[in-house]
Amino acid sequence: MRSPGFPLRYLLLAFSLLLVVCYYLSRSSDELSFATSDTSVPATDDHPIDTLISRAERDFDALITTESRTLAESAAAYRERRGRHPPPGFGDWFKFAQDNNAIIVEEFWDQIYHDLEPFWALPATQIRKDAWDFEMTINVRNHRATAGSDWFWTQIWLNLIRTIEHLLPDMDIALNAMDEPRIVVPWEDLVGYVREAQKTRHMANIGDVVTEFQNLPAATEDPQRATDPTKKNWEATRPFWNIVKRGCAPTSLVRQGETMRDFDHPPRISRHLQAPHSHKGYVSNYTLSSEICHQPDLQGLNGIFVEPLTVQSTKVLFPLFGGSKLAVNNEILLPAPVYWNEEERYTGGGDHGGPWADKTSRAIWRGVATGGRSRENTWPAFQRHRFVAMNNCTKLSLAQNWTALPANFELPDNAIVAQQEGKLGEWVSSWSDMGFTDLFCETPPQEPQPRTSCPYTSPHFEVLGGVKMQEQFAQKYLPDIDGNSFSGRYLGFLRSTSLPIKATVWREWHDSRLVAWKHFVPMDNRYNDWFGIMQYFLGYEGKTESLPAHDEEAERIARAGKDWAEKVLRKEDMQAYVLRLLLEYARISDERREHMGWVEDLLLGKSA
Ligand SMILES: *[C@@H]1O[C@H](CO)[C@@H](O)[C@H](O)[C@H]1NC(C)=O
Ligand SMILES: *[C@@H]1O[C@H](CO)[C@@H](O)[C@H](O)[C@H]1NC(C)=O
Ligand SMILES: *[C@@H]1O[C@H](CO)[C@@H](O)[C@H](O)[C@H]1NC(C)=O
Repeated sequence: MRSPGFPLRYLLLAFSLLLVVCYYLSRSSDELSFATSDTSVPATDDHPIDTLISRAERDFDALITTESRTLAESAAAYRERRGRHPPPGFGDWFKFAQDNNAIIVEEFWDQIYHDLEPFWALPATQIRKDAWDFEMTINVRNHRATAGSDWFWTQIWLNLIRTIEHLLPDMDIALNAMDEPRIVVPWEDLVGYVREAQKTRHMANIGDVVTEFQNLPAATEDPQRATDPTKKNWEATRPFWNIVKRGCAPTSLVRQGETMRDFDHPPRISRHLQAPHSHKGYVSNYTLSSEICHQPDLQGLNGIFVEPLTVQSTKVLFPLFGGSKLAVNNEILLPAPVYWNEEERYTGGGDHGGPWADKTSRAIWRGVATGGRSRENTWPAFQRHRFVAMNNCTKLSLAQNWTALPANFELPDNAIVAQQEGKLGEWVSSWSDMGFTDLFCETPPQEPQPRTSCPYTSPHFEVLGGVKMQEQFAQKYLPDIDGNSFSGRYLGFLRSTSLPIKATVWREWHDSRLVAWKHFVPMDNRYNDWFGIMQYFLGYEGKTESLPAHDEEAERIARAGKDWAEKVLRKEDMQAYVLRLLLEYARISDERREHMGWVEDLLLGKSA
């Protein structure tokens, strides 16, 4: 039935559309981005960060309503989301999680399925052989985990896995002992694997379901004599960008674009490339912001893409476990060893900082000039160098009064009031305390650590004294910047009473448990939103304009991040994650995998 107001509603709709169009047309030309910017965020008059914060709160509330409180609920959520029966051992997994007060939201384990899905397309015998054959492994037999290597990372992972070994079936776990991830399967191959994997996705008939894992021969014995390990053809290709490229779709900007060879100039920041993951210049889709394929300018903005410390890559998909990876990598993620180990220099030990009101309204960062192997003609492309330089008030003032153009960053575009008033350096120095503790320089003469001088970066950077984590927590704002790979202090920052501001190209085990703008503040990998973020939180008292501070918002996110980290990023949560992961992995390594599962809940239902 038609309502009488129908045509009027159309008119109103047309009118509001016109308003929206006029609004966009009136925006300055540097916001060309509107055509592609994230359309999932509604346009309002609020500060864009207010909009993003309230959306994050809504998303988070929706996420936790899906919590499973019973084994049956959890199994149902599993079948619904994964399209298969849970793996054998699922009942024990649930009991472990519940006994340890884990919050069980099926989405929290999405990373596991993202990482493992393509392996359904590989023969199980091949998976077992490649895992067993790898240079560094943890072996589980008869509920006992051992490792042939005493490399410290292996030992830390072994220590983690031992805590759940009584619940694990036999398996071999190949470990990546390098800082950087190593597998980039060409996009076309990966699409093929995922398509094959899709075909295996089904719910086996309850009566046919195999509920036990297989036993493997002793770890010293070749489990599959007749199968050869896959040839990895390790590549040490430089630039690393060419390896990254093949992980992107043929239609993507990265795959179609050029590979940069010259980094001996200030980096070129392409604002329009951040539009798809941004709302008015601020990160609105954090996951997408860490995807690389739509952002070709990142190759000149992060050391990993210029020259990683150790790079040895392969196109071959095989089950390699590691602590972090780029979105184009195909490793299987475990919680990183530094998180399990809780080293004081990364976490601040038991001290998470005092109350918010006792902190100073400042931002602090100290660290080593890592990011990869920086050289005389490449260091301007390194992220930590860029971030430290951007926070150097002398450099900012020199740039603002046209005395010296920045060597490795761009001044923000004109949305910062202090900059409009010609006081960017002054303003930044009133709240920012950043610097290197070690110049991590490649060229000889090598000094003993920390390296306090470097022929090519010394003119630009001073070496400052280190600041203990506990002392850093006396400031409200803690930017977190990638090093050679992911930043190991992130968990310590989240657990602190201060506010982490995070930019990264790295993926970690915990990504689907954290909501950007709810638990932490996301920052673009270009860092060109940094001053805007700080202006939002600190406000600005200027001659021409005054902007309000948003200290309460900052405090609220800092507290929410800390509370949440204490609920879902505990060691018990890492154990529950690894247990779920390894049960899935053991199933995928078994020829009978398509018929294996846990169906006790369905059997009960049948007999009742
Ligand atoms: C964020 O980006 C991812 C791709 O990385 C996409 O799957 C997801 O739907 C996006 N989220 C929103 C809210 O648009
Ligand atoms: C530019 O700024 C620097 C750093 O604050 C200062 O030393 C210098 O005198 C300024 N130059 C001019 C021309 O204002
Ligand atoms: C800040 O920049 C100046 C000028 O480039 C440089 O001399 C100084 O060492 C820098 N300070 C820090 C902390 O890096």
